[in-house]
Amino acid sequence: MAATNETSFPERNRGWYQDDLTEVNEPMRKLLENYSYVPSSEVVKHVNAIRERGFAANPYPCIGLYRFANLTLLTHPLYDTIIERLKADSATYLDVGCCFGQDLRQLVHDGVPSDRLIGLDITEALMDLGYEFFRDRETLKSRFVVADVFKGPDQGSVWTQIQERGVDVMHCSAFLHLFTLEEQVVAAKQLAGLVKKGGIIVGRQMGSVKPGNVAAIQEGSFSYRHDVDSFDAMWREVGEATQTRWKVEGTLDKPVSMVLLPSLCRTRPQQVLSLRVTVIGVNTKSPVEDENSRRFLFTVARIE
Ligand SMILES: C[S@@+](CC[C@H](N)C(=O)[O-])C[C@H]1O[C@@H](n2cnc3c(N)ncnc32)[C@H](O)[C@@H]1O
Repeated sequence: MAATNETSFPERNRGWYQDDLTEVNEPMRKLLENYSYVPSSEVVKHVNAIRERGFAANPYPCIGLYRFANLTLLTHPLYDTIIERLKADSATYLDVGCCFGQDLRQLVHDGVPSDRLIGLDITEALMDLGYEFFRDRETLKSRFVVADVFKGPDQGSVWTQIQERGVDVMHCSAFLHLFTLEEQVVAAKQLAGLVKKGGIIVGRQMGSVKPGNVAAIQEGSFSYRHDVDSFDAMWREVGEATQTRWKVEGTLDKPVSMVLLPSLCRTRPQQVLSLRVTVIGVNTKSPVEDENSRRFLFTVARIE
C-alpha cells in the first residue's frame, strides 16, 4: 500500500493520510466479521483497501485518518434509546454526511429494520463503496440519497420526500464542523426542516475549548469549532429563523494528554500518536487540529 509521503498524490502530504492500519478496533472488527462476514484474517487488509479507494474518491481527513473505522453513533450515550425508538415506532433515521454508511450498518446489525434508515451524502462514490465495505448490496434495504444539504428543498424530491416523511433520529457526525459558522447556520436550518417535533439530532464533531474559526482543509478556507455554548447559541438562531425550538446538550472530551498520555509516554511511546488519532480523534500534528481541539458530542432535541 502507498506510503504517506508519496508525492504523486499531494493530498497525502497535508497530514491527514496516516499509514495503513495494522489492527482494526474491536467494534468495527466485530461488525465486519459478524455482519459482513469478512474473514477475521482479512479484516485489516479489507479496511485498508476501502480507505485507499475512499480517499481517492474524496480526500477528507475522516477517511485518510481512518475516522470512518470508529463507529461513532455506538459511543453516543443515547445509543440504546435510539435503537429502541427505531425498532418500536417504525421511526425514520437519517445519517447526514453518512460517508460509507458505517453507523447505519451497526444499527441494522443491532436489529433495526434497514428500510427505516436513510443515508445522505454529496459524494455518491462513498455511499457506493459502502456496499463493498459491508458486502450487503443484495440484502440492505436502506436508501442512500445523493444530496447537498445546502440546497435543501431546491433539489426537489430527493429532499422533499424525506421532509414529508419526517426524521425521528438524525445522525450528523463530523459534518457541521466542515463549515464556517455562517454556513453551519444555513445547513442547520435545512436540517431543522427535516426533523419531526420530538425528534433528535445526535453526533460527534471536532469542537474547541476556544470556539472560533480554524484553518479548514481547503487552503485559505476556515471552519468553525464550537463549544457547548456556541452550539446552543447557533441552534437558538436556527430555531428563531425556522419557528422551531431546540434543546442542546453536549460534552467536550478532556484532552487526551490529561487522561492517557503521561502513563503511555512512559510505557508505550510508539502508540501515543495513533491513540491521539483513533481514540480521542485529536491529532495535534495535523495542520487542521491544535491543542484546543476536543471531541464534541452532542444531542439537539426538537421541543417545538
Ligand atoms: C468528514 S466526513 C464524515 C463522515 C461520517 N459522518 C463520519 O462521522 O465518519 C463528511 C461527509 O460529509 C459529506 N459532505 C460534505 N459536504 C456535504 C454536503 N454539502 N451535503 C451532504 N454531504 C456532504 C462528505 O462527502 C463526507 O462523506
